[in-house]
Amino acid sequence: MTKSYGTVTWAGVPYEPLTAGRDPGPGPRFGSTVGAVTHVLVTGGAGFIGTHVVAALLDAGRQVTVLDAGHPGAHRTPPPDTVAGAPVRRVDLRDRPAVAGTLAGIDVVVHQAAMVGLGVDLDDLPEYVGCNDLGTAVLLAEMARAGVHRLVLASSMVVYGEGAYTCPRHGPVRPAPRAVADLAAGRYEPACTVCGAALAPGLVGEDAPLDPRSVYAATKVAQEHLTSAWSRQTGGTVVALRYHNVYGPGMPRDTPYSGVAAIFRSALEAGRAPRVFEDGGQRRDFVHVRDVAAANLAAVTATGARTGWRAYNIASGRPATIGEMAAELARAAGGPPPVVTGEFRLGDVRHVVASPARAEAELGFRAAVGLADGVAEFAHAPLRG
Ligand code: UD1
Repeated sequence: MTKSYGTVTWAGVPYEPLTAGRDPGPGPRFGSTVGAVTHVLVTGGAGFIGTHVVAALLDAGRQVTVLDAGHPGAHRTPPPDTVAGAPVRRVDLRDRPAVAGTLAGIDVVVHQAAMVGLGVDLDDLPEYVGCNDLGTAVLLAEMARAGVHRLVLASSMVVYGEGAYTCPRHGPVRPAPRAVADLAAGRYEPACTVCGAALAPGLVGEDAPLDPRSVYAATKVAQEHLTSAWSRQTGGTVVALRYHNVYGPGMPRDTPYSGVAAIFRSALEAGRAPRVFEDGGQRRDFVHVRDVAAANLAAVTATGARTGWRAYNIASGRPATIGEMAAELARAAGGPPPVVTGEFRLGDVRHVVASPARAEAELGFRAAVGLADGVAEFAHAPLRG
């Protein structure tokens, strides 16, 4: 299926239309070197999302160079030698000479490499900052030296902290982190900071204040700020994609760093019920990894249209509760129904639900995979070791 979004503009500037959801055709999957084909460097290209991004770029006729450090936080076993036919170069972004050696002839960098997740303990802190922020700093410095001025950054909705909320009396409010005593007493919904009233959750837009609530979130905010400063100083273009909860084939099996979809899927595969924390009413936006790859393709194109720094929610626009996600997945997998445990984690926020309007208006990106279809596939799709 090929889906065309017609002529689109980015911040008022027209650019070539996006095609999304293509079937990978036959023939070489390695990209073409004929004519003025955009040459894209994908960092973290052997990871869960990076693999799909590489395949989408190749399918769309871009030339692709794949970097991956094979970090043990993302890869329990060494990464493959090739992704969609493209060789994987083992480069750690903290290694400045190695990064410098990859940038000749590159038009756009798509920066997916990162340590993700909530972290296990504070021993992880230097590694998060090293991989995510020092790695990004080295990449940006070497891009500037090599004259590469277009960047797509894999950011995350974690930069927002809690989602958007409105108090019936005080309008939009930013709830404080939830107190342990409230969570332990089963009071999961954040309250108005002024009057304590129950809040109505709403859609987070990209101009919401940044309020990171974990080490990982802080490193993603730092990436956004570093790339913004780089853009101002170099005149380069950055499209920051704030991924919501990505799921789909090739997701790593559960580790302490995994997102909830992989944890539920791994439990079901082992014949166990998914364990739903809090009361299961917390909302997220689950976006399919092929949609995220299509968003990256659109973003690569958009970086050719103008300069500056701009962030986009990459979301399906169709929120679900964690309880609904668990039930849908259990049903599709034919496994035991979820158990709601009332456990809670300090770094967790209650609801983060995005408005995907800006990405649709300016990138021409709209998610194509519905949750029921995506989960039906994910329930049986292979996970990564
Ligand atoms: C997740 C990712 C984050 C990523 C973001 C956007 C992790 C740990 N978090 O954030 O890296 O940037 O999506 O793509 O990778 N839960 C359960 N049972 C479990 C585990 C979790 O009910 O076994 C609940 C949690 O309490 C939480 C929700 O599921 O309410 C989502 O958890 P999770 O996917 O870990 O974190 P996000 O904050 O959504």
